[in-house]
Amino acid sequence: MKIARFSRLGFILAAAGSAVGLGNIWKFPYIAGEYGGGAFVLIYLVTVLFIGFSILIAEMLIGYLGRRDTVSSFEVLASKNKKLWRFGGFQALAGLFIMIFYSVVIGWIFNYIVTSLTYLPSSVEEAETIFTTMLHADFWTQFFYHTLSFLFITYVVHKGIKGGIEKLNFYLMPALMLILAGMFLYATTLGAFSKAITFMFEPDYSKVNSEAFVVAVGHAFFTLSLGMGAIMTYSASLEKGANLVKSAFWVAFLDTLIAIVAGLMLFTFLYQYGSGPAQGPGLVFISLPAAFYEMGILGNIFAVFFFIALAFAGLTSSVSLVEPMVQYFIDRFGWSRMRSSLSMGVFFWFFGIFAILSNIDGAKEMLTWGGKSFFDWVDYVTAAIMLPIGGLIMAVFVGYIIPQSEVERVVKPQLGWAYKPWLFSLRYITPVAMFVVMLSLMGVI
Ligand code: PFF
Repeated sequence: MKIARFSRLGFILAAAGSAVGLGNIWKFPYIAGEYGGGAFVLIYLVTVLFIGFSILIAEMLIGYLGRRDTVSSFEVLASKNKKLWRFGGFQALAGLFIMIFYSVVIGWIFNYIVTSLTYLPSSVEEAETIFTTMLHADFWTQFFYHTLSFLFITYVVHKGIKGGIEKLNFYLMPALMLILAGMFLYATTLGAFSKAITFMFEPDYSKVNSEAFVVAVGHAFFTLSLGMGAIMTYSASLEKGANLVKSAFWVAFLDTLIAIVAGLMLFTFLYQYGSGPAQGPGLVFISLPAAFYEMGILGNIFAVFFFIALAFAGLTSSVSLVEPMVQYFIDRFGWSRMRSSLSMGVFFWFFGIFAILSNIDGAKEMLTWGGKSFFDWVDYVTAAIMLPIGGLIMAVFVGYIIPQSEVERVVKPQLGWAYKPWLFSLRYITPVAMFVVMLSLMGVI
């Protein structure tokens, strides 16, 4: 069987496409707002550099050396206890679980693209009513757009690495960057731009606590798409001799750049036209449309383009969330790509319906346990438990279990003097950090 491989640029675009997602544009700005702006941004940058970047290289290495689906890669590379280590590959399941709510959120974005064409709310209160009505009372709109998102993602994934995933990223990533660059340039001409700069880069240490550290590490992980086999699966399709470190650098750089550009742009608009930063998860769906309203007709245009960019970011991440399990069934069970893509798609589509229902009045009571809806549970279990476990397993696997001569052969020439610090971070710093993050997010400490 001829295996389709990414081109060099194709790989970087696809991996960056995976990394740049709702996490960058929707989540990063509001958590930065919550945890003290500049001080949080600083901690986040340090964690991306020291923990995120190390694991990113480690995850790429497992895929690159294993060259197969995540489960098989762990199995082939383990120097002992192969049968046991193979379970490390089941971190790929996290991607499919994340899709259960990720696809629903992409559905909301589709809906906002359509409605922003003709209408924007004239106040934050109205924007809030619109959003909460959709969330709690409008099952069919959410169902319709979630289904659309499922169909699109499944179609792309069924076309394969080259004809589907690489192609999608080739068009959508540059388009996304262009839209953001255009809106960012406009933001720099507004008076409030300097306020946004101060907010994002001037540290307010009074808001920094241990929770900010945990959130920063957790987010560094989520935003770089680590710990769920996405980067690993993509790396299995790298050509021989590819430079992992260089690719990892570009992915981390683009991901961070886009988060910061998006943050600066959103805060400028919110300072200039709206209610200022720190608005929680509703920032993009509530405060922002109301700020766009103040801009007049330009606001409609901006809103439509903004939500298109957000949808693009979400879609390029989605294909990477589904692909690991799709590849698993192809490699281990000999399924056709069509059958595998469709089955994984139907899985997240089906459970996504329950995620929607778990926010709908009248149904949510049956789908809420311990004060959390099914939607929130999926988010929580993946981010707080599965992801850190995935990271922990990879750090230990590359730091101790893969024959170290292999690790050295590939990574040392690429990292140079940084090889030793990298290995140190993988062996000692990352596992501890992952463990602390997990315990803290689970509320144990
Ligand atoms: N990195 C994506 C984001 O920031 O939204 C989310 C994500 C995609 C996480 C793919 C994990 C993954 F495998």
